[in-house]
This record gives sequence, structure tokens and C-alpha cells, in this order.
Amino acid sequence: MQSWQQHLAESVEEILFDEETLAKRVKELAKEITADYQQLNISELVIIGILRGSVLFMSDLIRHIDLPVTIDFMAVSSYTKGTRSSGTVRILKDINESIQDKHVMIVEDIVDTGLTLQCLRELLCARQPKSLRICTLLDKPLRRRVEVPVDYVGFQIEDKFVIGYGLDYNDHYRQLPYIGVLKPEIYA
Ligand code: PRP
Repeated sequence: MQSWQQHLAESVEEILFDEETLAKRVKELAKEITADYQQLNISELVIIGILRGSVLFMSDLIRHIDLPVTIDFMAVSSYTKGTRSSGTVRILKDINESIQDKHVMIVEDIVDTGLTLQCLRELLCARQPKSLRICTLLDKPLRRRVEVPVDYVGFQIEDKFVIGYGLDYNDHYRQLPYIGVLKPEIYA
């Protein structure tokens, strides 16, 4: 009998980053982040994961960050797929703790148009953190509509529909342990 993972894998046109490649890059990013913040001699880094796509990446990343870290989460509404965004996001879940005077890093799974991060950045900057950096696993520069300063990028990718390792199509495929390109006939 076919397993569920095999069933999901049938929708994948091409594997972009397999488990080993992801693990290696995530470790490299964590090392880079650790080294950068060590220079700042910080007492704590607040890592804010943007739900839901970032969860797998964030949980792997923080395991390799060798600094005092606390974690928090935010959920924001995304615009309707297939239409142009108004450029504003609605907060569905806010962080639990104040970030005033704290060193903060936002963790995303993907930066596409940049609109979500631009909004989040403005919103969080208004709360006066000591510093605010952004880390994303994937970056699709071809789709960018607004410039956002992204400090740490795992991989730059072409404009393809990617799923797995947290990224979804219709809320499924997040559990795939690798990142793949979704077959166009699935979403056509
Ligand atoms: C995705 C992703 C970012 C945003 C990026 O979230 O996690 O938050 O879209 O797109 P943008 O750069 O064009 O603004 P999504 O709304 O799909 O929610 P999810 O993380 O729950 O899947």
C-alpha cells in the first residue's frame, strides 16, 4: 500500500533541496547568525517565527544557534491567492512578550513580493526593539514588489511554486521533509 508521504511525493515535479542539503544550509546559517551576534555581545536574541510556514525551518535553525535565544510567534493574514495584495496584513496572533530594547530576528520560510515582511517590519520597529534582523529560508527575488532588507537568506530560487519543509499548497505538503516544485496540473 502506498504511504501518505509517497502520495504527496507524486505531486512533486522536481526536488529542489533534499533533506541533506537543507540540513547543511540551515547549520551554515545558524553558524553565521551565531558569529554575527556574538560580536554584539547580546544577552538574549528573540526569534519570532511567522506562522505557519516557518515552523520547520525555525525549529531546525534554533537547534544550531549557539546564543541565548527565546522564541515567540506571530500569525498574519495573507492576501487571497491570485490577486494583488493591498500591502497590509492583519494580525491573527501577536507575540506574547514585549520586544522593547531587545535584539529581535524575524524568521520566515519565504520572501515573495516582500509585502508581508515590509508590514511586519514597520509594525515591529514601532515597538522599539534594540535591533531587528530578518532571516528567510527561501527568497524569490523575481517576484519582489517592495524592497525589504533581508539579512540572512538560505537559498534564492526562481519563480516556481514550492512546497514542503513547512511550505504548503492549500495547507497540505508542509510535512514533506524536502522542498520541491509542485506539478502545475495540481494547482492549474
Ligand atoms: C507566506 C510566507 C510569507 C508570505 C510571503 O505565508 O510564509 O509569510 O507568504 O509572501 P509575500 O512576500 O508575497 O508577502 P502564507 O500567507 O502562505 O501563510 P503560511 O505561512 O501559513 O503558509
